Amino acid sequence: MRYITFALAKGRLAKKTMALLEQIGIFCEEMKDEKTRKLIFVNEELGLKFFLAKASDVPTYVEYGAADIGVVGKDTILEEGRQFYEVMDLGFGKCRMCVCGPESAKELLKRNELIRVGSKYPGIAKDYFYHKKHQTVEIIKLNGSVELAPIVGLSEVIVDIVETGSTLRENGLQVLEEICECSARMVVNEVSMKMEQERIMNIINQLKEVI
Ligand code: PRP
Repeated sequence: MRYITFALAKGRLAKKTMALLEQIGIFCEEMKDEKTRKLIFVNEELGLKFFLAKASDVPTYVEYGAADIGVVGKDTILEEGRQFYEVMDLGFGKCRMCVCGPESAKELLKRNELIRVGSKYPGIAKDYFYHKKHQTVEIIKLNGSVELAPIVGLSEVIVDIVETGSTLRENGLQVLEEICECSARMVVNEVSMKMEQERIMNIINQLKEVI
């Protein structure tokens, strides 16, 4: 039997995904070992493989068919713009993609000024400002701790995910505009969906029952 391979975004999403899969009898005990540095795990009995990738690479593995199924945030899916089927909202990892900044930036947004936007999501930021708002901005790509940018004067606003809002609050920033809601999604390679339709649909249908 061919393995069905899952690409999971390592970290919280992978843990939540495994907890969800356990509810439909899919286990991978090896993966629970907090100390392991292994990236690939196999459940021989079920013919399943799981690998842990950087979140932004999960769409790539699934598009190319190196993984049949992926679990990744909608934010990453939108940013990466890859080709696959998005089959299910898993309901966890909920957050909002927002334009954030200090109160004083509200005016700049209203007046359509040429502002600088710091973001780990330059694609989403560009789409929002250029195509939805028709506002010309300068987008500055960052890789983390994005809230720093407006504080130290690198940009006027940021585009980032907001979950509890505490990072914003503790840094004197606020949500200025909401772009979209995000959560963890299950995605499937287009060829795998045809070749392994029965096994993949079986997993999807069982998950739909427990969610
Ligand atoms: C994310 C995001 C915000 C924070 C939002 O960062 O970029 O900084 O979480 O969460 P909150 O609303 O609950 O405070 P992450 O922890 O992924 O780290 P990063 O800054 O390195 O990207």
